[in-house]
Amino acid sequence: MLGYIWQYLYSSLFRLWLKWFLRQITGKCELQRICDGYRQGVARTSRRLLQQTLRTAIDVEESGLEQRVTAIMAEKNIRSEKDPMFKTNLKVCLLQINGYRKLYLYVEDLRKQVFESEKKEHEELLLKLWDLLMPSVKLQSRITKQWGDIGFQGDDPKTDFRGMGMLGLTNLVFFSARYTELSRQVLSHANHPKLGYSYAIVGINLTEMAYSLLKSGALKPHFYNTVDGSPSLEHFHQLYCYLAYEFDKFWIEEEPASIMEFNLYRERFHEKVKMLLGEPDVSLSLKLTS
Ligand SMILES: *[C@@H]1O[C@H](CO)[C@@H](O)[C@H](O)[C@H]1NC(C)=O
Repeated sequence: MLGYIWQYLYSSLFRLWLKWFLRQITGKCELQRICDGYRQGVARTSRRLLQQTLRTAIDVEESGLEQRVTAIMAEKNIRSEKDPMFKTNLKVCLLQINGYRKLYLYVEDLRKQVFESEKKEHEELLLKLWDLLMPSVKLQSRITKQWGDIGFQGDDPKTDFRGMGMLGLTNLVFFSARYTELSRQVLSHANHPKLGYSYAIVGINLTEMAYSLLKSGALKPHFYNTVDGSPSLEHFHQLYCYLAYEFDKFWIEEEPASIMEFNLYRERFHEKVKMLLGEPDVSLSLKLTS
């Protein structure tokens, strides 16, 4: 017991001394050394001290950020003249940490919105998805078997969004609006008689994958590396596009025997994505080959 306490005291003292020593020789405090010594992105923003320091700044509106950063600098006696990049760097980290949490709240909000036929915006969005994917085919009526052609299950897609609500639909529409040709190409793969899968249903399922990765914090490295500030809903939709495109590629390469093996290949794909998220330079951005 005594030995343990001694060891604890000793290592605490040693750490204090080391901090003091480094401050003397570099003229910089630990926060400055982090901002200086680590590349912008997950390498820097995920440092524990930074997360701890900034925890007290969380919930600060972006307008109050400047003040908060100034306060931290005053407290730590950091002068802008001596370290001109520090303020900007610290602000980026703060926006990234705070922004990730806010993004989750926006996404959660959209997910909780149930698709309602009574809402004009919801209906319009659904019809827009059809028009983007099937420009040359008219829907015969709102309730029709034709929805199956873009991979919904029933005659009325409203029952297919399940737990993902409007988040699922918004992702599908974003992909088709932003990458129209690409989404049609993915749809044509999905409609392949042997290697096919249900385009919309799988899309909604990939929305769930994106959502749960966001919720668990697993997407932090991706957003810290690719967004120099607060990530927005659009960044989340972009991530969905990456998953939709990459899953399709993965599915074709793996050639599953049938859609009955969806669970298995979904899990393999999920593992692959999680592995990528463990790499320091991760950036899950759509890279178009052609
Ligand atoms: C997605 O697919 C997995 C595996 O089949 C399943 O467990 C999960 O419930 C599905 N999620 C949605 C939203 O369909």
